[in-house]
Amino acid sequence: MATINSGNKSTRLFSAHPHQHTTCTRVHQIAAIALVAATFFLTRLFDHSLGPCSSPYRNSLLDATHYTAPDDVVRAGWYGTHLNLKIYVYDEGEIDGLKLLMYGRDGKISTESCVKGQWGTQVKIHRLLLQSTFRTRKKEEADLFFVPSYVKCVRMMGGLNDKEINQTYVKVLSQMPYFRLSGGRNHIFVFPSGAGAHLFKSWATYLNRSIILTPEGDRTDKRDTSAFNTWKDIIIPGNVDDGMTVLKPRLVEPLPLSRRKYLANYLGRAQGKIGRLRLIELAKEYPNKLESPELKLSGPDKLGRTDYFLHLRNAKFCLAPRGESSWTLRFYESFFVECVPVILSDQVELPFQNVVDYTQISIKWPNSRIGKELLDYLESIPDKKIEEMIERGRRVRCLWVYAPDSESCSAFSGILRELQTKVRQFHQSTETFWLHNGSIVNRDLVDFSKWKPPMPLP
Ligand SMILES: *[C@@H]1O[C@H](CO)[C@@H](O)[C@H](O)[C@H]1NC(C)=O
Ligand SMILES: *[C@@H]1O[C@H](CO)[C@@H](O)[C@H](O)[C@H]1NC(C)=O
Ligand SMILES: *[C@@H]1O[C@H](CO)[C@@H](O)[C@H](O)[C@H]1NC(C)=O
Repeated sequence: MATINSGNKSTRLFSAHPHQHTTCTRVHQIAAIALVAATFFLTRLFDHSLGPCSSPYRNSLLDATHYTAPDDVVRAGWYGTHLNLKIYVYDEGEIDGLKLLMYGRDGKISTESCVKGQWGTQVKIHRLLLQSTFRTRKKEEADLFFVPSYVKCVRMMGGLNDKEINQTYVKVLSQMPYFRLSGGRNHIFVFPSGAGAHLFKSWATYLNRSIILTPEGDRTDKRDTSAFNTWKDIIIPGNVDDGMTVLKPRLVEPLPLSRRKYLANYLGRAQGKIGRLRLIELAKEYPNKLESPELKLSGPDKLGRTDYFLHLRNAKFCLAPRGESSWTLRFYESFFVECVPVILSDQVELPFQNVVDYTQISIKWPNSRIGKELLDYLESIPDKKIEEMIERGRRVRCLWVYAPDSESCSAFSGILRELQTKVRQFHQSTETFWLHNGSIVNRDLVDFSKWKPPMPLP
């Protein structure tokens, strides 16, 4: 028997959130903000009285300003949204091959090292889902399925090569009847680097309907097929160093504007990229305005973690030029040293665009116009304006912090809200059929409960 619709899902039909579909005028927005603020504080009261109060993040990770709904920057209604979401997280022991994707062929890749650095989201999102109140242990009631994999890290550390990654993914998918059932449409994968889903060479055959979480939303990069699709995938923030996202003591505290030595900086490797090389040249011409040394990945010209942030905080504007791909971690880091990020990456796509107004908290400048003109422009912006942008950024940056879903504002809560919009009442696939009595069958009219791995793919 395989009746997929459970009672609770039918109710979803009638619980659409009006905020999401209304175009608001200013007046509406103000009214809505008041309403949202009220709902928001009531919800928090409720959380406090019923929820587990021992979260290590509460009061430690996010400062008080994070708890006020950021009015003009974040769209009204966002924080008030009620989530009705059940996510099944595949267990590493349940599917043959998952452990390879998490710890490499010898099982030696350490999760503790994979959780650090800009690609740590692949581990963090998995861990947060395991603790989440939206996790279900029953596949039959799940709206969405999460497939854990730390493959970016595993590959970097030599734990698997491209061929092994490709074959392992295919093997993993072939063991998942629920993946087959929806054609993968309700399955979630994290690809934390600029390569996006291309880390899995044959992604286009197997994962082209699945929900991909990635910081890289550029559709023009290198390969002729883009792995990002606006309608089904979700852009996630990069993983900012934990030392900077905790409140106290933060690894490096921001400096008052008046004490910053530079107008702007760019601290990174050139990687032979035109924009970055241009910045390094420009810094030689204007050493008092722009700090942009050519940094290396290792050796004496590599900045240590603390030094890096000590430099980063010393400018009013942090330039974020594109590198190998469009997204850049510097954009997210800027908010924690409180410089205004200046995006120099034309094709960039940013997370949570349905709610965040990026014109309020950052600047985007054409990559082709990196030069004195840019410095002159930045210099023309009064400190008061800069302070205002920084202040708004301070109220939004909780959205870049990977904290548990007990925090109402975090990268994870943002992702959950986006996932909510992906939930479907019904899933179809070419190879799935249904009968008058709710039975789901395959092409040979075999009932779903009798589908046995290996599943035919894709
Ligand atoms: C639904 O109908 C099919 C075809 O008559 C039958 O084989 C199947 O057992 C039925 N399923 C249920 C749940 O009654
Ligand atoms: C990935 O693996 C599948 C299954 O083994 C294979 O059919 C496909 O050709 C592989 N893709 C690449 C790019 O090697
Ligand atoms: C996904 O891949 C399958 C198998 O290669 C192909 O038939 C289908 O057209 C692809 N769908 C999309 C939306 O690209």
